[in-house]
Amino acid sequence: MKHNIAVLLSGNGSNLQAIIDKNIDVSFVVSNNPKALGLKIAQNANIPSYSWKNVLELEEEVLKLIIEYDIKLLVLAGYMRLLSQNFVNSLPSKFIVNVHPSLLPNYKGMNAIKQAIDDCAEYTGVTIHYVDEGMDSGSIIKQDSIKINKNDTVETLKARLQTMEHRLYSDIIKSILIKN
Ligand code: GAR
Repeated sequence: MKHNIAVLLSGNGSNLQAIIDKNIDVSFVVSNNPKALGLKIAQNANIPSYSWKNVLELEEEVLKLIIEYDIKLLVLAGYMRLLSQNFVNSLPSKFIVNVHPSLLPNYKGMNAIKQAIDDCAEYTGVTIHYVDEGMDSGSIIKQDSIKINKNDTVETLKARLQTMEHRLYSDIIKSILIKN
């Protein structure tokens, strides 16, 4: 099934791998980090991949690629830069989705998992949301929560949250693409 989605990432790319494993067709992958492991995952799956360190240049190039590849949905999968207002406003609303490791609006931005542990929160979770010009502020599509155990570290909690992300994100992406 041809979906025409593009993925932006900065790091390991485990969410990209989960998307690929669910047979969602990814047209291209872009990173602001030339050393991102996610770029290797794209290469191994024969998906065209690109990287620009300068994020404004990256955004300009991504806008061109979106037209070239006739992209229907832009998927942020661990893209750790705030998209510019100009970039977001150049695209239709509900065109960009993101996955964030907290129950938004709690613990926005970087180190969301550590923020939840430091706050002694009883629960945390995963949020899938549309991206607007703000930081992790777009409308929420789906959330799922888990209990934080007393002996949880950032690593143990991250592992459980990522297992949730890998299932949830692919399901949501599929359901958006079916509706479009
Ligand atoms: C994911 O856990 C995602 O929720 C988080 O980055 C990780 C990327 O992992 N995103 C954010 O914190 C966005 N604010 P991955 O590179 O293995 O998919």
